Amino acid sequence: MYQENWPDTYFWPYHQTRTMSVIVQPVTEANLLQDPLRFDRHVPPCAIVIFGASGDLSKRKLLPSLYRLFYERRISQSFAVVGSSRTPMSDDQFRDKMKESVSKFLEDAPFDEDVWKSFAQCLFYVAGDMSNPESYEAIREKLDEVEQSHQTAGNVLFYLSTQPSFYAEAVKALGAHNLTKGRGWRRVIIEKPFGHDLQSARKLNEEIHQVLDESNVYRIDHYLGKETVQNILAFRFGNGIFEPLWNRRYVDFIQITAAESIGVEGRGAYYQEAGALRDMIQNHLSQVMATVAMEPPTVFDANNVRDERAKLLRAVRIMKPEEVEKYAVSGQYGPAKVGGQDLLGFRQEPSVDPNAQTDTYAAVTFFIDNWRWAGVPIYIRTGKRMPKRVTDIAIQFHAPPLGLFSQETKSGLREARPNLLVLRIQPEEGISLRFLSKSPGSGMRLRPVSMDFNYGSSFGERSPTAYETLLVDAMTGDPTLYTRQDMVDASWQIVQPILDSWANTKFDFPNYDAGSWGPKASEEMLARQGHVWRIP
Ligand code: BG6
Repeated sequence: MYQENWPDTYFWPYHQTRTMSVIVQPVTEANLLQDPLRFDRHVPPCAIVIFGASGDLSKRKLLPSLYRLFYERRISQSFAVVGSSRTPMSDDQFRDKMKESVSKFLEDAPFDEDVWKSFAQCLFYVAGDMSNPESYEAIREKLDEVEQSHQTAGNVLFYLSTQPSFYAEAVKALGAHNLTKGRGWRRVIIEKPFGHDLQSARKLNEEIHQVLDESNVYRIDHYLGKETVQNILAFRFGNGIFEPLWNRRYVDFIQITAAESIGVEGRGAYYQEAGALRDMIQNHLSQVMATVAMEPPTVFDANNVRDERAKLLRAVRIMKPEEVEKYAVSGQYGPAKVGGQDLLGFRQEPSVDPNAQTDTYAAVTFFIDNWRWAGVPIYIRTGKRMPKRVTDIAIQFHAPPLGLFSQETKSGLREARPNLLVLRIQPEEGISLRFLSKSPGSGMRLRPVSMDFNYGSSFGERSPTAYETLLVDAMTGDPTLYTRQDMVDASWQIVQPILDSWANTKFDFPNYDAGSWGPKASEEMLARQGHVWRIP
């Protein structure tokens, strides 16, 4: 068992007060099984190799998360990061660059110069091209070095944060250079997008499996690591009162919204090829749908939870080509003036083709063909340049069978279906339940009110970011919040007919203004079912 004896002054910069004893034992299936609820994380020593280390993800998310974990001593202090990318840099230049990023992108946390000095001693850099065999030899040498200098015990976590077209080649090269085997464990985290469509995702899986066993493949979907997404399972299965209502008998429809106010932020070239459906719905939002709608697992462990998610995704009805127009809407933002500011249209963004047919907005109606959800539409929408950044899930319950107070509630659809449960994923994390209440006065005048739970005020502590959680999980060998091959396959299957149909359609874009809630066709899609999008 890995143990550390930290002084009582837990929050002091550790290098001033640290007394540490480390007894290392490898994390095995057996000790994972002892703690499926993940209270007690025994994070073993390890080296993390980040391919694409000078990229955006590394700067904005990975290094700030690792620094934060180090600061809070949630990872072993016997660790090292080996960054690799094409940019030539020395270790010190890499450290300086990362210092700039970490201090800039650290979310809700102080930057501590002294802790940084200790952390920076764990950072190394190897410049190299991933298609050049010498790069892998240089990485191996560096790993041998840090295994000695930082006692990383031969454990290595590779993080592929490069261009997706390199994933298969990189895994193959890791295998060919014997980097996937060693004294300790070897795991590979693969960033999204996992494939460009169903066929390429299957091919990528095959290529990866020629080198790695599925148990060492960690396909990351950072939405699954968000505290609020994990809380959906706690809310549903840790309480007794919601689950009986969680089905077609009580639920009228579900809306999942992931709106972003930002545009494509310098990612025009990638985004132009991806589009909103691939970028958000195929991965993040299908996993959120699976979490909201899955059956309770019999045991809370990696395989049982993932089995249920996969089963749910397999139950989603696959659209016929002729149904796509009815159940899916594509949009692209055009230029607009918002709050006195001129916003560019997507086609005017840098590196974007002025005739691009890319969807920057996508809305889909899914149906889940199982006993629990038959006939309940699940509406999912996502878009760039929406009026605000908000991700939430709204569960709309049926109206009461008789409108006893209907005089007071006939003012519109909202009141006609008073009971709405909203799971707020971000930014104001929490849960609220809307119901009707009598307004003070002599008449039976009803008004919607809500019961609110707010993460911030209820717990009063910072939640770890998704990447902090997921990095610790990969280091401990816990794949519960990572996607499995069958889940990825099923989520490509449900979007593939839409992708195929859109690829053969010439859209009249732009069809919504930057700063608006999306194209009119999206409202019409819901209106056909007698529903409206709520304004989050
Ligand atoms: C990424 C997408 O996976 O998720 C981005 O590629 C998107 O386009 C981002 O902006 C949203 O993540 P979050 O955590 O900010 O909601």
